[in-house]
Amino acid sequence: MTDHSLRKPVRKAVFPVAGLGTRFLPATKAIPKEMLPIIDRPLIQYAVDEAREAGIEQMIFVTGRGKTAMVEHFDNAFELEATLRERGKALDALEPTRIQPGNLVAVRQQVPLGLGHAIWCARAIVGNEPFAIILPDELMIGAPGCMKQMMEAYNEVGGNLISVLEVPHEKVSNYGVIAPGEKRDGFGGTLTEVNGLVEKPKAEEAPSNLIISGRYILQADVMRTLENQEKGAGGEIQLRDAMAKMIGHQPFHAVTFNGRRFDCGSKVGFVEATLALALERPDIGEAVRAMASRLLR
Ligand code: UTP
Repeated sequence: MTDHSLRKPVRKAVFPVAGLGTRFLPATKAIPKEMLPIIDRPLIQYAVDEAREAGIEQMIFVTGRGKTAMVEHFDNAFELEATLRERGKALDALEPTRIQPGNLVAVRQQVPLGLGHAIWCARAIVGNEPFAIILPDELMIGAPGCMKQMMEAYNEVGGNLISVLEVPHEKVSNYGVIAPGEKRDGFGGTLTEVNGLVEKPKAEEAPSNLIISGRYILQADVMRTLENQEKGAGGEIQLRDAMAKMIGHQPFHAVTFNGRRFDCGSKVGFVEATLALALERPDIGEAVRAMASRLLR
């Protein structure tokens, strides 16, 4: 494969949203975790907005049973719109939920066999193109957004990219980290060659304090690797194992995200995101600040 073929434009993003969301039960019994709102926008909306900002055209949702609300969210809502119009109410709030006809595709992961398996379920739609992956329960807030920063790096180096964040060294054992190679500045951020991926290392053995976050740009070859992938940690088909096999065969870089990450798959992270974003909102920030300091007194 020539280097040129590893720089094809990235037009598609896969959103793996078929997980069971057990940490949020019973809230997630009938509603997907990705439909839980941070203030007034569901997590999936933040993820789609981030993809759009990065120039992605086609959104591919890998869904499971009971997840149709997400597809509905991005569909036209004739009755609601008609009622709002009748009552003279603005429709602006619905604007971000509009996706060009044909640009939202949903595929099913019948059994949640792991993140790697979820990505593989999108193989027919991804085809032979590089593609982005966005995990909506990791909320990445930055200007520009995380995927846009990654796309700028991709335009420079092509190949495969993952997004990483620096954490204090003693915290690495909760995360996957990269074994770093050469580092360089470019595209307005830091790019690090990836020599390996290590899952939850002991702090004293960790090769770096750069934790892997839920944003990727991968070449379609990863689908072939996933095809024959054995089950890994937790009895699940792991995306990380498939990526590890590509390192050394294709360019693989990490982009240090210049922004904030909230782990909205955990309850504390979800509350933190809600509070942090609410405090910054011009419409409610002041009232929330007063309320929070009253509660803390
Ligand atoms: P998580 O590990 O957060 O799992 O998956 P989960 O099932 O959503 O949540 P908990 O741990 O039970 O509370 C990370 C991402 O991968 C997707 C999830 O939807 C989430 O976006 N995923 C995971 C799948 O799409 N399919 C799977 O088989 C596993």
